[in-house]
Amino acid sequence: MTNDTASTPTPRLHIVDHPLVQHKLTQMRRVETPSAHFRELLSETSLLLTYEISRELDLHEVEIQTPLTTTSAPELIDHPVVVSILRAGNGLLDGVLKVIPGARVGFVGLYRDHDTLEAVEYYCKFPPMEGRTVIVVDPMLATGNSAAAALDRVKADGPAAIRFLCLLAAPEGVAALHKAHPDVDIWTGAVDECLNDVGYIVPGLGDAGDRIYGTT
Ligand code: URA
Repeated sequence: MTNDTASTPTPRLHIVDHPLVQHKLTQMRRVETPSAHFRELLSETSLLLTYEISRELDLHEVEIQTPLTTTSAPELIDHPVVVSILRAGNGLLDGVLKVIPGARVGFVGLYRDHDTLEAVEYYCKFPPMEGRTVIVVDPMLATGNSAAAALDRVKADGPAAIRFLCLLAAPEGVAALHKAHPDVDIWTGAVDECLNDVGYIVPGLGDAGDRIYGTT
């Protein structure tokens, strides 16, 4: 007899409602915030988001020597792998690496076809991921197409667990990603109202890549 409840994971959405995350997100939403300040805010926010997403990383006890004695103390079993969805994912990456400097990093380059809004891959380079925890980062979870395509690529390399980290999500993107990858939990700073007819998050903050790098 099969047990559907046990075999179908229930995807979880974690909204990081810490006041500092919310305050910094508001500054990033402001149209007048220049790129240099936007980058700084995003980097600071990614430290706080990473603190939350890393809560469930596994620890084991190791024997260590302090200046006073030997003792048993907790240490991460494995550092996770971080995969950045280019190019906006790199805006979150440095903050993640400040908190987890031992993480190895992969990149997947995807752009949105402006007509279909489908994700088109142009680059992919991953470190070994088999059996490891992978954190996939992209500031904006909009349609969910890029995120779902990136997760397909990551899963092909056999990680033990995958988490998705973003700054801002649309309800449509959350639903699409949960449907395509029900085993992947999402951490975000906020879920906005909706997508507009060209796939931008509303009220949102505009194009994250443009805001980070000063392009238009
Ligand atoms: N990508 C962005 O950078 N911004 C959006 O609003 C949607 C997708």
